[in-house]
Amino acid sequence: MEKIKIGFVTVSDRASSGVYEDLGGPAMQQWISQALTCEWQPVAKLIPDEQAVIEQTLIELVEQQGCCLILTTGGTGPSKRDVTPEATIAVCDKVLDGFAEQMRAVSLKYVPTAILSRQVAGTRAECLIINLPGKPSAIGECLEAVFPAVPYCIDLIDGPFLETDETFVKAFRPKHAKQKA
Ligand code: MTE
Repeated sequence: MEKIKIGFVTVSDRASSGVYEDLGGPAMQQWISQALTCEWQPVAKLIPDEQAVIEQTLIELVEQQGCCLILTTGGTGPSKRDVTPEATIAVCDKVLDGFAEQMRAVSLKYVPTAILSRQVAGTRAECLIINLPGKPSAIGECLEAVFPAVPYCIDLIDGPFLETDETFVKAFRPKHAKQKA
């Protein structure tokens, strides 16, 4: 069987031009390394806040790389250059509003500015795409809030069976769905 691939996309003009180090990409990978017990492989991208580039990158990660999950970080705020949600919606077949609702609700417990994130999530073919804010601390805060629903969502779109370390994050699957296909 082919290895499970997960895409990590850092969207930032400054990190992609070398003004500062990309902290978000490694933070997302680190979180997923702790969460998953099945074998998986990362595909990482560092790109500027350009809608066309973000769309092409997401499409490539789904169609050429075969990722079942893509996490993006950055570009979700209200600034002029923030266009990650627009790019994500443009390439998704279905938008899953519940992910963003939950991430913002939980994030509000940490910072009042959580309402500034326009983050979205959705599916393209057999891949789930989730936007995370750019601040490295926000990555764990948001993933913790929604990851229990991620493995079952990927089951439902005919992706691979993700297994998690229950001491770190417990995946919720309805009883009938619990065994590996
Ligand atoms: N969510 C969490 N969990 N923690 C945070 O610190 N920062 C907020 C918000 N969401 C934050 C958060 C802030 S200050 C902004 S501007 C928005 O995310 C958008 O961030 P982005 O443009 O880097 O994606």
